Amino acid sequence: ETVDWEPEDTGKGGYDHYMLKEIHEQPQALRQCLQERVDELSGAIDLGDDLQQTVRGAEFIQLVACGTSYHAALYAAQLFRSQGVPAQAFVASEYVTAPPPYSEDTLVIGITQSGETADTLSALREAQRRGVETLAVTNVVGSTASRECADALYIRSGPEIGVAATKTFSAQVVAANLVAAVLEDRGTHHDFASALRDLPSQVQEVLDETNAETVAERFVDSEAFFFIGRGYDYPVALEGALKMKEITYEHAEGFAAGELKHGPLALVTSETPVFAVVTGETGSKKTVGNVKEVEARSAPVVAVTDGRTDVGRYADEVLEVPETDSRLAPVLANVQLQLVSYYVAERLGRNIDKPRNLAKSVTVE
Ligand code: G6P
Repeated sequence: ETVDWEPEDTGKGGYDHYMLKEIHEQPQALRQCLQERVDELSGAIDLGDDLQQTVRGAEFIQLVACGTSYHAALYAAQLFRSQGVPAQAFVASEYVTAPPPYSEDTLVIGITQSGETADTLSALREAQRRGVETLAVTNVVGSTASRECADALYIRSGPEIGVAATKTFSAQVVAANLVAAVLEDRGTHHDFASALRDLPSQVQEVLDETNAETVAERFVDSEAFFFIGRGYDYPVALEGALKMKEITYEHAEGFAAGELKHGPLALVTSETPVFAVVTGETGSKKTVGNVKEVEARSAPVVAVTDGRTDVGRYADEVLEVPETDSRLAPVLANVQLQLVSYYVAERLGRNIDKPRNLAKSVTVE
C-alpha cells in the first residue's frame, strides 16, 4: 500500500518536471529552514527552548530513517560525533529487527520527509516503547511522526512532489547542522552562521553555473555509475548513487572511498565512470589517491570538488562547487549529482517524477 501524490494538482512552474523544479527550489528551501533559527548578527542558533533542552540532554544519539533520509541520518551522525556525542545512524527496518541497547540519556531521532514512512514510524515506536526520548525531523507539519514524537524539528522545504527526494535532503542536512550547533552549545557560532547564511546563494551559484548536463550527455551510455566519498562526502556518494538508480534505472553504487579497493574495484572498467566527491578537509588527500587507482584502471573520473585538492588533475570532467565550511560543502556537491542524474534520466526518457516501482511515501513495512 502506498500514498499517491497527484502531481497535476500543483504547477511545474515552467520546468519539465517537478524534480527539476524542486532542485531549483533549494536556495529558497534552505532559506526557509534557516529563517529565525540563525541570528544574522550574533550568529546564535536558536531552535527553541524545549528542543534545545532535549538535544543537550542527550548522551547518545541514534538516528533512524529510510532511503534518502537515511543518507541525511548518516551525515547527521557524523556531525554529532564531531561534537563529541556518540551517534549512530540505522536503517529503520534494521533498527526494528535488531534494536541496539539504550540508556536513559539516549535520544532517538527519526528523519523522515513525509513523517509517514512505516519503517521509520515503527522504529520510533520501538524507542518509545522502551521509554526513550524521540525527536522527528520532518517536512510535514501534523504528520504521524511529528505527532507521535516528543519533539519535532521542521525542515520547512514546502511540498516535494517528485518521488526522488532532492530539496528535502539538503534541508535535512542543514537542519542536522543546526542540531549539531546546539549540541556544541557555545552560544554563538559566527563563522559557521555566516557559512550557513551563504549556503543558499552558493547553491544558486551551482545551479547557475553547472555543467552537469554536459557530463550527463558524455556518460549516458555507461554500463554502470559509481560514486565514492570519504567522511561527509560518503553519504553524498551513497545519495548520488541512489538518485541515479531511482530515476535512470541504471546500475549505480556508492562506496566509501577507502572501501573501493576492498572489492568494488573489480567492477571498475573504462565503461564505468566513477564520480569522486572530494570536498572539505575530511581526508580528501586520501580520496585523491583512490581516484588515481581508478584512473589506473582506465575508468573515466568525474570529480565533484571545491578545488581544495588537485583531484581535478586526475579527472576527465570536473563539477565544481564553491568553497565553504567542510560540514556544508557536500550539500553543494550533492546538488551537482542531483542534476547529473536528472539529465541522464531525461536523455533516457524515464518517468522522472514517478519512477517505476517507487512511491513517494511507503506506508507498509
Ligand atoms: C520512499 C521514497 C524515498 C524516500 C523514502 C523515505 O522510499 O521513494 O525517496 O527517501 O521513502 O521517505 P521519508 O518520507 O521517510 O523521508
